[in-house]
Amino acid sequence: MKKGISIILTALMVVTLFAGCGNQKEDTGKFQIGVVQIVEHTSLNTIRETMVEELTALGIGDQVEIDYKNASGDQNNLNTICQKFASDKKDLIVAIATPSAQAAVNATEEIPVVFSAVTDPVSAGLLNDLENPNANATGTSDYVDAEKILDLALKITPDIKTIGFIYSSSEANSKVVIEKAKTYVTSKGLKYEEIAVTNLSEVQQAGISLAGKVDAMFAPIDNTIASAMDVLSEVCVEKKVPFYVSADSMVADGGFATEGIDYVDLGKETAAIIKQIYEGKKVADIPVVILKDTKTYINKTIAGKIGVTIPDDIAGSAEFFE
Ligand code: TRP
Repeated sequence: MKKGISIILTALMVVTLFAGCGNQKEDTGKFQIGVVQIVEHTSLNTIRETMVEELTALGIGDQVEIDYKNASGDQNNLNTICQKFASDKKDLIVAIATPSAQAAVNATEEIPVVFSAVTDPVSAGLLNDLENPNANATGTSDYVDAEKILDLALKITPDIKTIGFIYSSSEANSKVVIEKAKTYVTSKGLKYEEIAVTNLSEVQQAGISLAGKVDAMFAPIDNTIASAMDVLSEVCVEKKVPFYVSADSMVADGGFATEGIDYVDLGKETAAIIKQIYEGKKVADIPVVILKDTKTYINKTIAGKIGVTIPDDIAGSAEFFE
């Protein structure tokens, strides 16, 4: 009888041991982090690189293992990557930008998701209350009021009568900003034209057609547009249209000007949240971090090419890109 029990116990131990092998944690002893990014553009790369460096600065660089995947702008890739992270039973998923975060929360309800640079986490459907995350996701937001950027546009180029909006119809982060921008410019007595693209290949043609009809252009914080700044910059310079954008990187990559947050700080804040979860804190106890401070960013070369002079009071506190 006793022998029978000990055989059963031994069998159970073996089963448990093998079951343990399926769990990534047992494989390397490290905390497994899957990092997913919708596309590689300057700003998202800055966030990711800063975040990884900061994990080391916070003293947990050696204890985590990072598996980074880029979806190359493709929604199907995003879903596949996130589903694989879920079936691999990662300890944590870091999702950079809105489309990645949406794919991550769709793929798992158990694994904590730390999102980064999600413009509006509530309208993106990630949670209901920024202070009290109600699902498995929390993180950082780069929300900047469109009014701030449009006010800057009206100060630098007060003669604008019609403004052109260019954005991607599949990005929730853009649509929420565009709705606010429409209301705001209308309240200021301006007209607008809009073009929504469905993918990267449409951006150039859309830009050419829009730039021909407007006095200035505005792009929200849109991953597709941010990935096509070189072509749009050329189009706008050619037509001498000031192109107001929504991130420092978009200015550095050939946009004209913006009012935006510091994405290095955002990357650090994202790492700080990862550390809290690594140490056992629950997602529900970690409010979303929104960076409030903004700065004016201007591209000096573009200003010269389109023949716009920056008013002194704006130039005094702005950061310039060449
Ligand atoms: N806020 C964007 C989102 O919610 C992501 C993003 C971060 C971004 N930095 C950017 C988009 C710079 C365009 C340009 O998806």
